[in-house]
Amino acid sequence: MANHPLISYVEEARGRGMSNKQIIDALTSAGWQTHDLTNIFLEHIEVSREPAIPESADSIVTVRNVSKIYNKTIKALDNVSLEVKRGSVTALLGPNGAGKTTLVRILTTLLTLEHGTARVAGFDIVRDAQELRSVIGLAGQYAAVDETLTGRENLEMVGRLYHLSVPTSRQRADELLHQFNLDEASDRVLKTYSGGMRRRLDLAASLVIRPQILFLDEPTTGLDPRGRFALWHVIRELVKDGTTVLLTTQYLEEADQLAHKIFVIDHGHIIAQGTADELKKQVGGDVLELHIADHGLIDETVRLITPFGSEAPRVDEDTNIITMPVSGGASILIDAVRELDSANIKINDIVLRRPSLDDVFMALTGHSAE
Ligand SMILES: Nc1ncnc2c1ncn2[C@@H]1O[C@H](COP(=O)(O)OP(=O)(O)OP(=O)(O)O)[C@@H](O)[C@H]1O
Ligand SMILES: [Mg+2]
Repeated sequence: MANHPLISYVEEARGRGMSNKQIIDALTSAGWQTHDLTNIFLEHIEVSREPAIPESADSIVTVRNVSKIYNKTIKALDNVSLEVKRGSVTALLGPNGAGKTTLVRILTTLLTLEHGTARVAGFDIVRDAQELRSVIGLAGQYAAVDETLTGRENLEMVGRLYHLSVPTSRQRADELLHQFNLDEASDRVLKTYSGGMRRRLDLAASLVIRPQILFLDEPTTGLDPRGRFALWHVIRELVKDGTTVLLTTQYLEEADQLAHKIFVIDHGHIIAQGTADELKKQVGGDVLELHIADHGLIDETVRLITPFGSEAPRVDEDTNIITMPVSGGASILIDAVRELDSANIKINDIVLRRPSLDDVFMALTGHSAE
């Protein structure tokens, strides 16, 4: 049969997780005529045999084998699969350049999905992109609000863009300004807002349509601790009201505070997943961090404290800071101080702290998150 190679191509492309639409697009751009393709699909291939994405009943996001290559060279996502449970907070945790924004942009239809499949809120993100946009909210890494408009005008404009009536847009803007503690600033132009206020307004703008799922790309980066706490509180309230949240962050602490489930991403790969506690267990408990005064004594210090650690110490040569995963609580701290004191090693600072993203990274990959 003349069209045999085409049929094998389609079967093979489906095996790789491509949808009918993606296959047709690929073939059209390779020069095939639409009517040929339609005939093939109708005569020889069951159109209903879309690759079924195994999706559990309570998941609102299902990502399967998604890859993204920029400019044919930069592999920003490499075969990413993940699920988000309805009503939960899920964090995508990773350092700069890990691929977090790329995934968020794909799932919110701002970037075309080329490899793999994904469903959000029951919609196929490629085939049903239009419908999907009306049930999701996005607060991107860089605020999408208009500097020259007031807070209220920004929110009303979003309402109008989503085809809400003028009175409904106004009412929704009022509700949100109140909810986000921006009543007083509501008639000021955004240029006069602080970073924290801007973030809150951006979040409010993503909620105008009461989304089922909210995507937050690094919602608290650049905020001071107070602003960060305030935003965490807002996010928790939204989740209490039934909104599902998928957020990205560079901070293990933030994921720890907010997320039920964490996916750790590095160079486009999901390298670990679990709860914050499960991830921290990979580090082996707490981290002993000490700063010694004399650079020349680093090797001796490392030798003396190694027996107290659950893994080998790591030395930052620039800062003279030694970190080491430990399990055994505060007594380790006291033992380490005694040992160093009896060897006359002067300590500038010593703390026992919870693991950071960097410690988790070190444990998982053997290299730091930088
Ligand atoms: N439009 C683009 N064109 C080319 N390369 C891109 C583009 N956008 C992102 N990249 C590259 O893809 C990779 C992933 O970028 P992405 O923005 O998704 O990372 P990220 O995890 O959001 O990082 P950050 O924490 O810095 O926001 C990086 O190597 C980045 O340089
Ligand atoms: Mg980003």
